[in-house]
Amino acid sequence: MELCSILCVLIIIILLFYCFFELHYFLRMILTLALARLTKKKAHIMDLTTINSICLTNDIDTLITHMNNSRYLRELDFARVDFYERTALYKTIRNKGGGIVQGSTTIRYRRFIKPFSIFQITTKIVYWDDQSIFIEHRFIGKDEFIHAIAICKQRLINCSAEDIMDVMLSETPTHADSTEKLENGDLVRYKPDMPLEILKWNESNEISSANLRKI
Ligand SMILES: *[C@@H]1O[C@H](CO)[C@@H](O)[C@H](O)[C@H]1NC(C)=O
Ligand SMILES: *[C@@H]1O[C@H](CO)[C@@H](O)[C@H](O)[C@H]1NC(C)=O
Ligand SMILES: *[C@@H]1O[C@H](CO)[C@@H](O)[C@H](O)[C@H]1NC(C)=O
Repeated sequence: MELCSILCVLIIIILLFYCFFELHYFLRMILTLALARLTKKKAHIMDLTTINSICLTNDIDTLITHMNNSRYLRELDFARVDFYERTALYKTIRNKGGGIVQGSTTIRYRRFIKPFSIFQITTKIVYWDDQSIFIEHRFIGKDEFIHAIAICKQRLINCSAEDIMDVMLSETPTHADSTEKLENGDLVRYKPDMPLEILKWNESNEISSANLRKI
């Protein structure tokens, strides 16, 4: 009797949590963070990191045959957390007294992700300016096909992205994409060239922002 009522209360509490929060989102977030911290290798800020994911029945849309389009962006939260944790980017920003928010996102869908298929999401910094870090994510299927590609502009608050990237690159100095060791032992750090799609997309954001300011 005693045990039964304890169980009932537990079930009610879990149900209430489910009604008011998307419980499995938070549980998966905790799991992703724990895996990144405890089981995965640390990553360099210019590394490409990867998480695995699967399209389940609660990810599909009305047509039932593929992952729903908002789900892609939700999956990016997990990819980002894994990246922030393994590269210590978030920690570095917090140590500088700053914060980070998603400023804008663009995504291009190329081919459906079918239910029960396993896919990977990659995360890589492609560029940064003084205010923002631009991150590219790819959704890659088992056959290596890129099903979707997203660019996220992560806006830094109360700190400069250039400063943060300087700190990150000097703390973990060697990486083929961003550093070169000269014969005298000095390290030269350089930024990746600005990808054309970033330049144009940022421009399009500026135009949109200017339009809204007129209102
Ligand atoms: C689609 O994805 C969103 C965001 O992940 C989710 O909240 C929703 O339950 C999914 N399913 C449908 C049918 O919209
Ligand atoms: C940024 O600085 C302002 C003023 O010092 C402060 O109120 C705000 O909470 C800070 N934001 C973050 C994300 O740290
Ligand atoms: C993006 O646009 C902002 C203005 O909205 C500008 O300050 C910044 O330098 C631009 N960044 C890039 C990478 O073009």
